[in-house]
Amino acid sequence: MAATSQSVQQYEVRNGRNQYHLIPYIGNKSGFSHIFDDLIPDDAGGGKVVDVFGGSGAFAIYCCFRFGSENVVYNDNNPVLTNFVTSVRDNVKGLIREYNRHRARSSTDYFLKIRTEPLTGGLRGAGRFLYLAKNAFSGKIRFNKKNRFNAPMRKSSQCPALSEERLSDISQRIHHMEIFNEEFEKFRDIRHAFLYLDPPYMNNTNGHYNQVPTTESFAEFVRAVSPHNRVMISEQNEPAKIGIPKTYRVYHIILRRSLQYVTQKGSTEIIAVNYNMRRRPSNV
Ligand SMILES: C[S@@+](CC[C@H](N)C(=O)[O-])C[C@H]1O[C@@H](n2cnc3c(N)ncnc32)[C@H](O)[C@@H]1O
Repeated sequence: MAATSQSVQQYEVRNGRNQYHLIPYIGNKSGFSHIFDDLIPDDAGGGKVVDVFGGSGAFAIYCCFRFGSENVVYNDNNPVLTNFVTSVRDNVKGLIREYNRHRARSSTDYFLKIRTEPLTGGLRGAGRFLYLAKNAFSGKIRFNKKNRFNAPMRKSSQCPALSEERLSDISQRIHHMEIFNEEFEKFRDIRHAFLYLDPPYMNNTNGHYNQVPTTESFAEFVRAVSPHNRVMISEQNEPAKIGIPKTYRVYHIILRRSLQYVTQKGSTEIIAVNYNMRRRPSNV
């Protein structure tokens, strides 16, 4: 399963506005679909495919499009996100209605008021979150440690319309996807799965997420799951710094966009995998 040496193959990421894009979110991987096409084996969907740090769900959604949703699992420890993704899956029409209700009343004061209201607990919370997410400054959704949404409103006072067709399509595609609101350690004992690990950047806490795992806990988790599963890891740090074993094959990613992802264009990160691809990646 394990590759024998690290390599320095490279990908570029330019734009993430595609069918896998659900919400603007820091770390959103919808722009990585060409990389996933290359680096995720065709038989990955034969077993469980788990998006352990799911965020906006770009990876899980991609996998539902590619493999069908029966074996796909989305997880995030932030209940605001899991409540939202659940509403997309189970009641997209209601969610669109909720959003449009907020849109009709949108203003800076209204945004600040909605920020103080619950973002969990079903459809109402999900509608508020979607409204805040679509109107956050620079698309940078941010939560404080108490899980309160604390991003300011975007400069333009125009609340954008939803891409209702895309949202409805995603809803259909993720119909059977399982959704968990767990700590990543919960998946420690999983076997014969494909795991995607996209943790908040460790050693570089930019304050966007409610929580960041310690490098020790992440490294321990990677050591525990690697012998029994195919694992793909996204990170900004060099592999050794966060305990990714030397046996992982490493690909370098250059980010050509800044919005919703990093604060500066041209920054880099890595994808590391613990398996060999049968075919050679095409786009490196
Ligand atoms: C880099 S983001 C993932 C972005 C995602 N791949 C996407 O495309 O939107 C990391 C996510 O990990 C979640 N997270 C932070 N600590 C966690 C933990 N201990 N267990 C599970 N999820 C966690 C955060 O809420 C955040 O959504």
